[in-house]
Parts: sequence; structure tokens; C-alpha cells
Amino acid sequence: MFRDSLADAARRIETHFASCLAGFDDVLVVQAMAYATRGGKRLRGFLVLESARLHGIAPEVAIWPATAIEALHAYSLVHDDLPCMDDDDLRRGQPTLHVKWDEGTAVLAGDALHSLAFELACHPDCGSPKARADLTLGLARAAGARGMVLGQALDMAAETAATPLTLQEITTLQSGKTGALIEWSACAGAVLAQADPEPLRQYARALGLAFQIADDILDVEGDAEKAGKRLNKDAAAGKATFVSLLGLDAAKTRAADLVDQACAALQPYGQRADTLREAARFVIARDN
Ligand code: IPE
Ligand code: IPE
Ligand code: MG
Ligand code: MG
Ligand code: MG
Repeated sequence: MFRDSLADAARRIETHFASCLAGFDDVLVVQAMAYATRGGKRLRGFLVLESARLHGIAPEVAIWPATAIEALHAYSLVHDDLPCMDDDDLRRGQPTLHVKWDEGTAVLAGDALHSLAFELACHPDCGSPKARADLTLGLARAAGARGMVLGQALDMAAETAATPLTLQEITTLQSGKTGALIEWSACAGAVLAQADPEPLRQYARALGLAFQIADDILDVEGDAEKAGKRLNKDAAAGKATFVSLLGLDAAKTRAADLVDQACAALQPYGQRADTLREAARFVIARDN
């Protein structure tokens, strides 16, 4: 079952995180990094491991970029939760970092997780020198002001925009804030194998949008206990989402269409990509 595959990936990534962080001094910022990397679905890391499997890459190689993207994602969540951004006090069912410790520790732990991500993505055991360089360059682009950071900046600007964003503008926002890291993850196996990443890129673009629509739907009608974070916040904060623009029903239809698109993009891989198809269906059926 798909959830078992995801849980298995999560266990492998958690073990690898522990071994990576064991090499650091046991100081507050490192404790905070470890705290921030606990829990979570590990969907991005799973996508790395699965795309690597599809391309015949050994699991001991793929675990490096899988852990790298989960470190980068964890940093993005720590900063997303800060009072100057979404101001959240709960994440993965636990107090957010700045609540458990303080804002300075949260900023620094986020910074260090960001650096750790690049350290892991270009680790000598993470593929050939060319593959590592491509992965690391791709990660820098996906994480920065053409990718995740751009999306987060557009997300914040939309809160105080004079007029609601258009569908095109929301698509651009979400392709950055959520899509870019998901795209990097799904393409990682092809990059490691130096194969054509295009089918996986098409898959991930549709998947990333569906993923964020599902997150926005969860904010409206999810169960906070299961989600492990505060819900019913987006509308009050003036967030620009497909739900705010289209309403719940049309957003659900759009997410389902995107999942169909994602699955269709995997056609060149045939049945070997069935687990990725299950991942796409999971993304809109999840409750956390
Ligand atoms: C939450 O991501 C932030 C968004 C991009 C919507 P996830 O829902 O993947 O969070 P975890 O890692 O499972 O906690
Ligand atoms: C967060 O999006 C995206 C990133 C961290 C890059 P959201 O703000 O919607 O995520 P949640 O709802 O807090 O998990
Ligand atoms: Mg946010
Ligand atoms: Mg948030
Ligand atoms: Mg959200």
C-alpha cells in the first residue's frame, strides 16, 4: 500500500538525518535543527527515492538528495511559521521552533538547515560529480528567488494586495512556493542517472499545484488534530489561494484534474511508475 511505502521512506530519511546530525556538536541550534526535521509526511524525500528507483539508482545514493530536500523543506517551514510570516504556533503537532525556543534560534536553525541541504546534495556519496553539480545547481534555483522564496514573497504580498490575484497569478505563486521543491524532488532520479527529466517535470508541475490546492482545502475543512497545524487561517490572513478564488468545489475539481494530468505525464514509464501515480492520488486524498 502507498502509505506503507511512504512510511518506509520516512523511516530511512529519519535514520539518515540522525546520522548526519550526529556529526555536529550538541548545541542549542543543532537541537533545534533536529527538532525541526522530526515528523512530516516526507513526500518530497519519497519522490526523490522513487524517481531514483525508476532510474536504477542505488538507495544508498538516493538517500542523500532525499534527506537534502527534507532539510530544505524543514527550513522553509520554520521560517514560514515565524511571527513575521504566517505566525503559527503549531507544526507537525508540536510547538513551532520560535515558540519552543525563541525567534533567533528559529531563524538560525532554519539557516543551518538550508546550508545542510546543500551539503547533503553535493556530498561525495551522492552520485557522480556531474550529477551532484546538476542537483546542487537545481536545488539553488528551486529554493531561491526564482522558486520557493519567490513564491513565498508573492504569497506575502498577496495578503495586502488591493485586488485579488488572478488564476494565472495564483498559479505562478504556488508553482514557486510549493511547486519548485516538488519538481526538484521528482526530477532528482533522472538527474542522478543523467536521463531526460522532462516526463517527471510535467508530472511534478501538476502534482505540486494539486498538493498546494489540497493544503488550501485542508485549511478550510481539515481536522486540525490530524493536520498537526492550525487551520482556518488563510482567509483571515487574506491569502491568495485557488480556494479563495474559485471556491471549494471548483478547487477540488481542479485538483482532481491536475492529478489526472500528473498520472498521464508518467506514460513513458508505463506501469513501473504506478507508485508515483498512487502518490499523486494520495496528495489530494490526505488528511494531513
Ligand atoms: C506543508 O508541506 C507546506 C506546504 C508546502 C503546503 P507538507 O504538507 O509536505 O508538510 P510536512 O512535511 O508533511 O509536515
Ligand atoms: C508554506 O505554505 C510553503 C512553504 C513553507 C514554502 P503554507 O503557509 O500554506 O503552509 P502551511 O499551511 O503553513 O503548512
Ligand atoms: Mg505560508
Ligand atoms: Mg504557513
Ligand atoms: Mg497552508
